[in-house]
Amino acid sequence: MKETILITGGAGYIGSHMVRQLAAHGHKVIVFDNLSRGNADAVIDAELVVGDIGNSEELAAVFKNSDIDAVMHFAALAYVGESVHQPDIYYRNNVLGTLNLIDAMHAHGINNLIFSSTCATYGQPESLPITESTPQHPINPYGHSKLMVEQILKDYGDAFNFRSIALRYFNAAGCAVDGSLGERHDPETHLLPLILFEALRVRNGGDPEESTLNIFGSDFETHDGTCIRDYIHVSDLCTAHTAAYHRMLQKPELGAEQFNLGVNRGYSVLEVIEACKKITGIDIQFNTVTRRDGDPPELIADASAAMIKLQWKPEFPSIEHSLQHAWDWFSKNPPDNL
Ligand code: UFG
Repeated sequence: MKETILITGGAGYIGSHMVRQLAAHGHKVIVFDNLSRGNADAVIDAELVVGDIGNSEELAAVFKNSDIDAVMHFAALAYVGESVHQPDIYYRNNVLGTLNLIDAMHAHGINNLIFSSTCATYGQPESLPITESTPQHPINPYGHSKLMVEQILKDYGDAFNFRSIALRYFNAAGCAVDGSLGERHDPETHLLPLILFEALRVRNGGDPEESTLNIFGSDFETHDGTCIRDYIHVSDLCTAHTAAYHRMLQKPELGAEQFNLGVNRGYSVLEVIEACKKITGIDIQFNTVTRRDGDPPELIADASAAMIKLQWKPEFPSIEHSLQHAWDWFSKNPPDNL
């Protein structure tokens, strides 16, 4: 058996895919999740400890009871719009919760952390594509909360030799290639699933003219007026974590590092809808509504540092892969409230 890895948020979308990938590679995996937004049945091939990163005693118990070598920290609130209206829960969960976690790790002599950061830390970048040295000026509390943690990790690296790699995700997309796991948020707010839900509704006989799909703003300064994002397959995000973990093992002197994870290609909301029409063969209509709070117009990664230093390469760089895998998943696992 290889090293034991604790995955916080392992019942969530990206975390649950990570659990499976690590377990498949022979790691013992322990999931720590409060199940507030995750699903217990998404935890496959791992021990599930139900606990909250807000609770230092629950965290201490996990580290005391198991011989953990490293932590991958996914547990977080991650809705941009929600963070604008409820900043309190974002700072408490994402910043204080992470501080509890790394203090518990430090107290138990565990100094290896892979942290789920985000391109939302860049805010509205002055130039594209975004590299790791692009200035970070978040424009919503979610991005601020993740940037605060990055700073804490740098300071812990300098002071305590605490090793960390912060992975700044662009937009996670897709589902497990073998169809075993998918995306299940409640409520669902992400673009790709919502487009595919609309396709399912129409496939089930719903009227295309009564679309449930809303586009948040068509007056952004982009080529078609809608927001542009860099969509990265969830499976590729996971292989990047494994690569980051290997780098950490090979470089014990490592302090805090940060890498962008994207595919260096942007799609506008309208382009994603067009791609979904092709994959599903369904006439997907939409309504244009006002902008959502906190949305930057365009986020595209320069992920060359991850490709070089982590020796990582996305296996599914095209959005069609993500859409096809997601469509396969949602076709078999439609949401209850379609
Ligand atoms: N959008 C719509 N209609 C919807 C949902 C989304 O038009 O019903 C638009 C959004 O306004 C945005 C784009 O589609 O322009 C993508 O929105 P998502 O909600 O799918 O994703 P976000 O970019 O807002 O956020 C996601 C993650 C964050 C992460 C961010 C990085 O949820 O955690 O990607 O860009 F930080």
